[in-house]
Amino acid sequence: MLAWLIFVAEEGNLHSCTELPLQRNHLPICQFNDVRGRWDPPTHTSTSHLTSTKAITIHEGLAWLLCSLWLLVLEAVHCHCHCQWLSLPEVPSPSLYFTSLLFRLPFCFALSFSLLFQLQLSLPPVSDADGYLERTFLSPASVKAGNLIRQWMEEAGLRTWIDYMGNVHGRVEGRNESAEALLIGSHLDTVVDAGIFDGSLGIISALAALKVLNSNGKLQAVRRPIEVIAFSDEEGVRFQSTFLGSAAVAGILPASALHISDKSGVTVEDVLKDSSLDITEENLLKVKYEPRSVWGYVEVHIEQGPVLEHTGFPLAVVKGIAGQTRLKVTVRGSQGHAGTVPMSMRQDPMPAAAEGIVLLESLCKCPEEFLSYDGHCKSISLKSLSSSLVCTVGEITTWPSASNVIPGQVTFTIDLRTIDDMGREAVIYEFSNRMHQICDQRSVSCTIERKHDANAVLCDTELSMRLKSAAYSAVTRLTGEIQDEVPVLMSGAGHDAMAMSHLTKVGMLFVRCRGGVSHSPEENVLDEDVWTSGLAVLSFIETQL
Ligand SMILES: *[C@@H]1O[C@H](CO)[C@@H](O)[C@H](O)[C@H]1NC(C)=O
Ligand SMILES: [Zn+2]
Repeated sequence: MLAWLIFVAEEGNLHSCTELPLQRNHLPICQFNDVRGRWDPPTHTSTSHLTSTKAITIHEGLAWLLCSLWLLVLEAVHCHCHCQWLSLPEVPSPSLYFTSLLFRLPFCFALSFSLLFQLQLSLPPVSDADGYLERTFLSPASVKAGNLIRQWMEEAGLRTWIDYMGNVHGRVEGRNESAEALLIGSHLDTVVDAGIFDGSLGIISALAALKVLNSNGKLQAVRRPIEVIAFSDEEGVRFQSTFLGSAAVAGILPASALHISDKSGVTVEDVLKDSSLDITEENLLKVKYEPRSVWGYVEVHIEQGPVLEHTGFPLAVVKGIAGQTRLKVTVRGSQGHAGTVPMSMRQDPMPAAAEGIVLLESLCKCPEEFLSYDGHCKSISLKSLSSSLVCTVGEITTWPSASNVIPGQVTFTIDLRTIDDMGREAVIYEFSNRMHQICDQRSVSCTIERKHDANAVLCDTELSMRLKSAAYSAVTRLTGEIQDEVPVLMSGAGHDAMAMSHLTKVGMLFVRCRGGVSHSPEENVLDEDVWTSGLAVLSFIETQL
């Protein structure tokens, strides 16, 4: 439809989006729309869609007309059209006004049309499954997506290659190829029945920004090498091992990871070899980057939480990625008949577990009430702890799990995250003490095992400052209004930036998503916000010119 509109607006000249003259700061429209899961390259998308375009329906025609009127009104009163950032004069002379209007129309149409009606092209996303989105590590769809991304990278003027772990790289050397490189990336794999923005948005916004620079002839003039990386595995769906791609680049992926096998017994190594990637322990080391060759890593990602939508701001700077501990709590009592054992004579692990779970909730809601008077915890900044602490009991199992049996054993998991590593330890310490007290009082026994620990990652202050002003200028540029302060958020979810922090300083931007929903086909980002994220990357890179 977008292509069709441009086709109409260009008065019969058959242009695909990418063939349109890319002028000034115009971002490639089709590319942006591809982020919505339609991984076909823009040129093909547009032409194949053009040739298959049916006659315009009355509904579409009406919408188009309304849209044009709407735009004319906007223009006439010098409202801040969404296309204002095409850098045309604010108050043009009458003749310039009309030429600029003509110039802007195709883009305004395309943008506002999709803004207004959220048009969905009928092209399917690149997926391994029919009817839903699934791209796991080096699956056929992942390989296809990787090749498309590589093609887009080339169209954006980058030199490309695929490394031994299947990561897709596109790089421009700029003025000084021995300077430290800026890396920008995200992941191209997805969960099962995924949304189309998780991961892809970070790759596409970076590519779109570089494409603009390329079309402006500024790409080769960047001060330091800039490299976009589409990581092959972040979600870890197939091998239950997250960050296969970024951990290899950061040099923290152990060689043993190559021997992890999936459910059907196929190993990471097998999968890579099947894709003609000659992975060996020696070659794995070649994927690693030298810390001194890298300046920093930047990632744009959807928020996957509801805070930005609540604040009403499209972008946020990420302060850090929460550290995480997973615990397994086992409570053992004595199994018995639900009808014959009197209440006073029971050793029932279930109420103990229930009490522990409720305790955990209170502790995580108001840690200061539990920890502030504890001398041991003086050094913790309780404020940062209570603003970022989240605890979840997501799984409970009981044995023997029958309605007429007092359980002999209850097991539950705890997922505990916060940006404050010491605070996390203090909370675990406090919870363990109190849980054991509960179990003692109820004459049952408890064991608490630590299953997983990851420390928090703090984003670099300087990178964050630059990202913050880039986000600010992008939002201002797009809306034409002076904006509030860019929010600063903590990330509760892990990202490639976590692995990359072992290599270099990292910075992240979050993009607002509808209802905070992610890892679901319901995941959605406003077109406008997609544009804003691309503009923010552009503004950020412009500081590197
Ligand atoms: C290029 O970068 C290197 C490494 O940062 C630096 O030593 C050198 O001075 C730079 N060259 C120029 C011409 O700026
Ligand atoms: Zn992600």
